[in-house]
Amino acid sequence: MKRVFLKTFGCQMNEYDSERMLALLAGEYVPCEAPEEADLILINTCSVRRKAEEKVYSLVGRFRHLKARRPEVVVGVCGCVAQQEGERLVKRMPHVDLVLGTQNVHRLPEALREIEKGRRPLVLTEMRRDFVPPLILPSPDGRRPVKAQVTIMQGCDNFCSYCVVPYVRGREVSRPPEDILKEIECLVERGVREVTLLGQNVNSYGKKEPGFPTFAELIRLVAEIPGLWRIRFTTSHPKDLSEDLMRAFAEVDKLCEHLHLPVQSGSTRILRRMNRGYTRDEYLEKVRRLREICPEIALTTDIIVGFPGETEEDFRETLSLLEEVRFDEIFSFKYSDRPYARAREFSDKVPEEVKAERLERVHELQARITQEINRSYIGKTVEVLVEGPSETRPELLTGRTRTNHVVNFSAPEGLDLKGALVYVLIKDTGKHSLRGEYLKTVKGP
Ligand code: SAH
Ligand code: SF4
Ligand code: F3S
Repeated sequence: MKRVFLKTFGCQMNEYDSERMLALLAGEYVPCEAPEEADLILINTCSVRRKAEEKVYSLVGRFRHLKARRPEVVVGVCGCVAQQEGERLVKRMPHVDLVLGTQNVHRLPEALREIEKGRRPLVLTEMRRDFVPPLILPSPDGRRPVKAQVTIMQGCDNFCSYCVVPYVRGREVSRPPEDILKEIECLVERGVREVTLLGQNVNSYGKKEPGFPTFAELIRLVAEIPGLWRIRFTTSHPKDLSEDLMRAFAEVDKLCEHLHLPVQSGSTRILRRMNRGYTRDEYLEKVRRLREICPEIALTTDIIVGFPGETEEDFRETLSLLEEVRFDEIFSFKYSDRPYARAREFSDKVPEEVKAERLERVHELQARITQEINRSYIGKTVEVLVEGPSETRPELLTGRTRTNHVVNFSAPEGLDLKGALVYVLIKDTGKHSLRGEYLKTVKGP
């Protein structure tokens, strides 16, 4: 068996594509931990922020010596930087054998055969408007994961002015519901209990495809799969968050009470320049309605600080929105120019040190809010799907609440709880997690 070293950057969609590549390679390659041991090196890349892209170049650059020593090693770059850079990538890094774009994942085996015949470098970055990712069933490889991700739609049509994704992932296309259901059924047969449905904007699932279910209907179809216990999804665009989807949180038992709803900014003026399609008040109104329908729902969000033209006053509106909504957790980023994205042409860029200072203030405020929310869990009993031993504290087990909070907990020795749904009593909090004690098993493993 040959060995593949696969490193994944970026979002869950990239993680999903990496799983598909491993499935395609199964039978011929086994994963390995170190690039030095590999016959095939694959780097699945992200281009969403400048820093992410720089990381790729420095990592791929490091394989130059390895390739000089062992020319038979195949070095491949896939994902969003591969799509964005194409030929430029092999010009800049001649030791790269393969550039595999985001709509060409399924062509990996064919590409490797070509390279074996000496046809290198190979650049496969064609894109089509109507591209539907073919069904690739997960391979049984002994790993028995408890949770999995399934991409239900590819691409994005929103063109937020800061964002490269529509250019590197192509137009929005939904996968057929039969493919999605078949794939999830297969995962459940392999022991998966929780599935996350993925898309850049899942709420427009099926809108362009006549006869397809809506996203809320798709959730209900997925919920009928026996043996599947939990459903999550990401990401939902605030402008398309429908009443129907909000109701699913209250009505579909398996749908977990957590929604990632990226707001980006609290200032309507900035939201307009970002081309987000909603105002501050419209966002807040959706949050209010959501909490009315499902009071226990946990919310998380993404924030960009220092978008071109963001004044101190605009920024304070972001802070006040954070205070008002009280998200369980946020992901915050300094704005950076991206290729193709319109905002790179905006002239009123915010200086780097101002961005850094604003990011710091966002972190400070959110750390307090997250801590307050975490503390409110102390003394409560929560349902946790057990993923296995904690990576940092192997004597503890780890899993997540339905509200997506990480819980590390102790349990009687000798109890095999991986894959079980258990009740845990929360006793304490960490910075980004809860600490507790096992009470009893609800279901499984
Ligand atoms: N589809 C998702 C987001 C995908 S990108 C959505 O619509 O929200 C993930 C996050 O990266 C974005 O939510 C945004 O906060 C951040 N991001 C995207 N482009 C960026 C840029 N040019 N600079 C800084 N952050 C950016
Ligand atoms: Fe990017 Fe906006 Fe599409 Fe999200 S919705 S991927 S931020 S263009
Ligand atoms: Fe990054 Fe591509 Fe995802 S740019 S965030 S890996 S869609």
